[in-house]
Amino acid sequence: MFRIFVTITCAVLWEASSSQAVTPTVQVAKQWKLLSYDFQPEAPIRDPNFFNPQNVLITGLAVTEDRIFVATPKLFSGVPSTVTWVSKAQFGDSPVLQAYPDWSFSNTARTDFNCSDLILTSVYRLRIDSCNRLWLLDAGISRSLEDYERTCAPKILVVDLNTDRVVRRVDFPAEVLRGESLFTNMVIDETSAKHCDDVFVYISDTVEPGIVVYDSGKDVTWRVSHPAMYPDPDFAQSEILNDRFVLMDGVVGLAFDERNGIVYFQPLATDRIFSVHKNVLRAGPLPSGQMLDIKLVGKKSSQGIGLAVGPFDNSLIFSPLSETAIASWNPATNQQSVLAYDRDRLQFIADMTTTRAEPGVIYAISSKFHRFFLKNLNSNELNNRILRLELPHSSNSLQAHPLPVPAHNSLHAYGITGLYSTQSAAHALQSYFTSPALQAGTTQPPYKYDHSGILNYSLRNPFTALNQGEAFPPSKATRDNYQRSYLDTLVGGSVPAPQPIAYTPQQRHSGYYYQRGAGANFHPQYKELINIYEWRNLEFAFPNERERTQALNSGRYNPDSPIPIDIDVYYPPKSTEPRLFITIPRFGQGVPYSLAQLTRVKRPNGTELQPFPSYDWHSSHGTNCDGLTSVYRVHIDPCGQMWILDSGEIEFEQHCAPQIVVLDLATNQLIHRYRLPSDDYKPKISRFVTPLVDITDPPPQGSCKEAIVYMSDPTGMGIVVYDVLAGKSWRIENKFTYPNPTFGTHTIAGESFELLDGTLGLAVTPQGIGLRRLLYFHSLSNELEVAIPLDVINNATNWGYGISSSLDEFIPLGRRNVQCAASAISKAGFWFCGFLEPIGIFGWNIRTPYTMDNVQLLAFNPETLQFVSGMKIIRRPGDMLEELWVLSNRLQKAFSGALNYKEINYRVQRCSVDDMLLGRGCRV
Ligand SMILES: *[C@@H]1O[C@H](CO)[C@@H](O)[C@H](O)[C@H]1NC(C)=O
Ligand SMILES: *[C@@H]1O[C@H](CO)[C@@H](O)[C@H](O)[C@H]1NC(C)=O
Ligand SMILES: *[C@@H]1O[C@H](CO)[C@@H](O)[C@H](O)[C@H]1NC(C)=O
Ligand SMILES: *[C@@H]1O[C@H](CO)[C@@H](O)[C@H](O)[C@H]1NC(C)=O
Repeated sequence: MFRIFVTITCAVLWEASSSQAVTPTVQVAKQWKLLSYDFQPEAPIRDPNFFNPQNVLITGLAVTEDRIFVATPKLFSGVPSTVTWVSKAQFGDSPVLQAYPDWSFSNTARTDFNCSDLILTSVYRLRIDSCNRLWLLDAGISRSLEDYERTCAPKILVVDLNTDRVVRRVDFPAEVLRGESLFTNMVIDETSAKHCDDVFVYISDTVEPGIVVYDSGKDVTWRVSHPAMYPDPDFAQSEILNDRFVLMDGVVGLAFDERNGIVYFQPLATDRIFSVHKNVLRAGPLPSGQMLDIKLVGKKSSQGIGLAVGPFDNSLIFSPLSETAIASWNPATNQQSVLAYDRDRLQFIADMTTTRAEPGVIYAISSKFHRFFLKNLNSNELNNRILRLELPHSSNSLQAHPLPVPAHNSLHAYGITGLYSTQSAAHALQSYFTSPALQAGTTQPPYKYDHSGILNYSLRNPFTALNQGEAFPPSKATRDNYQRSYLDTLVGGSVPAPQPIAYTPQQRHSGYYYQRGAGANFHPQYKELINIYEWRNLEFAFPNERERTQALNSGRYNPDSPIPIDIDVYYPPKSTEPRLFITIPRFGQGVPYSLAQLTRVKRPNGTELQPFPSYDWHSSHGTNCDGLTSVYRVHIDPCGQMWILDSGEIEFEQHCAPQIVVLDLATNQLIHRYRLPSDDYKPKISRFVTPLVDITDPPPQGSCKEAIVYMSDPTGMGIVVYDVLAGKSWRIENKFTYPNPTFGTHTIAGESFELLDGTLGLAVTPQGIGLRRLLYFHSLSNELEVAIPLDVINNATNWGYGISSSLDEFIPLGRRNVQCAASAISKAGFWFCGFLEPIGIFGWNIRTPYTMDNVQLLAFNPETLQFVSGMKIIRRPGDMLEELWVLSNRLQKAFSGALNYKEINYRVQRCSVDDMLLGRGCRV
């Protein structure tokens, strides 16, 4: 209804307004049927992959005193240069485009480029700052409307227009990218700039909707998202004259009101325009559970992209596609005017810009994008036009309301202030734009979107989509007809932001689903880990058959007794073939050795094990304390050393003192041994199960001399810290290292067993990510995750006061309402743990609160991931890729003696950490 009304009336209204003296006229600055280039002599212009004029159109422009720069993105194949310029001097038809900065930046139809080079793949928009520099936003995607090739990562090149040289390059950390990210537009906020490199840039991600904020002063980047940035399926189809096309594009139109600090934005597929204050964007990623404070500015008569802010009165200038017009709306007065209407010249306005060279003028690019898109281009028509529009202003308003001149020479400094006399109410054309009343009802946000953690750009951490769940708005069909759209409630400058609400599960996230406690109903998109080894039962190798027979006869080997618990992985230098080690602790009798290396020998029940470092180390079964009595877990450090934690007991009979034995894996030789002093353990009670070694002087710079070992004693309910350089250890025991009886029953795949175990899982904050380093730990029989700063736990003098020592320093991070066993933290600060219910591996960004929203299910399989008792994150030496390795068993069945040796009972599985976090399926 609304749109029909507009289409009928606007021509009439235009006639009325065009008679006014202040009415601007639209001039054609440049126009082209098809674009052509000033090619180099040897250019392969006959190669349609290099140049196909039917596929080249302009979507962005920037204007200086003497030049007009245009962006021709690689929407299709055959765009020879993505950034070009023409001289501004003469208006006229078909000027030849000059590659910018020069042809060497083009990578079209080339394969011999390196994404680290100064090249440009596909630029949609370009902006000029007040330091006379041109910012080129390169999306990095080729043929975005054809095969969407990710040619290079997105970046910004900043070119000094005085020299035409690149003066700055901005690469985006993977953390702010999403699978299909397409960076299409940006505004530069110089309002607080003290120098040229002290600006904020707000960038639209159109395909994975969000706004990326780049703080160039601090060189940090983060990402925010909101449903308002998503396309509205009800407006997927746009209509220009007789052409209809469907494009579900998210946020793409951007404009910045410098005086009021407001960023306006609009997706293509919407009838709405939204705003967000610069302080909201600048504040960094949102705390968990909070909504970005977005306002609905109003509704338009049809879709559009280009936005600009009028320099005289801060009015919002927009171009509704179906009305083939450019209109303005003044948010202060609600006055509306049609600045230009032209069915032929004003079609798809992909960009509008003001220019410092000509205050009070708007340049716009109008193309027949829809016809390029629909492949019904008429190459005899004018298909690209650069338009110039002088904005109306009343002469007496100049300097009427001078604003304070900002520190930096931004647009404020032009001295153009004050209001031009807008059309009187009688002439107001409310039909293109309606701003909703402020007294909006409060519908609750029906969907959820999260923030990303603040990213330190200098660190270039590999990133993940974890905690980035950005939900898609429901389609109109699935909305309650009696309920207004949530977006409609975002009105007004004074309406407070919606309060964070407690979300129920059932949210869709990008890449993974998360739904607690409903194990059977997981979405198949949970990715499987890659199976590396599996056993029905462990296959022990013996030095000879006689020894095997004797061990079997004497009970030193009982095939029903061994259960593997831990895995660790060692890549020898320059090798891509890892050595794998597993532990088989002596819970009871009948385990021939408790540390083994995996072989390549396949036996009927699984791969054969070989004793490590040798059979002799194990064969005394506790009578030789220079050997190994019972090993639950090991830790291989970055120096190629294996730290073996030997509990010294079998079935709680303490044969030897618990000890740390360190082997050099290059030689398999013993290089260090430390036996725990009697103060540090409780004979017949203690069972040391997890070592975690923190090398504080790691390679390549360090010499691997400074190591702190944390050892968990779940049955003695404590942690022992061993300072290797100082040669001493101390014990920590308090309420946080204890189990919680409520979590004493462990249920795995429907079978339960009782265990009241204290501290088990250990992990530390990685070095070099700018966080205070903590030891993260939890008891097996507890839901609580706890942390203690390393500087506190590593200082022996803090621990002389029994269970109240340094108690205030412990940080209860959060509760997960279920047990988890082994844990590990990646280099970038993502914690992983295998949960008992649902049976899966969960991940958590340690920078965020430990809440159900932030602890996300990443892999789920009740069959193969029953009890994840071993977990390690290993960095491959070749490409530094991080791999998550897990060993899973069926502890619940082992404890009840119910293992079925016809089934696979033990598995070693692997996935790259990035694949896990991105939910894209394990490829390595
Ligand atoms: C690309 O260039 C960078 C920096 O010059 C270099 O480190 C990298 O090895 C190059 N990559 C390829 C594939 O040549
Ligand atoms: C980013 O990390 C670098 C290197 O650790 C550090 O010097 C810098 O202060 C950090 N920046 C911010 C904003 O945290
Ligand atoms: C496989 O394991 C089962 C259970 O321990 C055992 O009975 C059987 O002998 C094993 N098979 C072989 C070939 O070792
Ligand atoms: C250890 O902690 C004590 C206080 O408990 C403090 O005085 C001392 O400086 C700390 N030592 C180190 C090396 O931080």
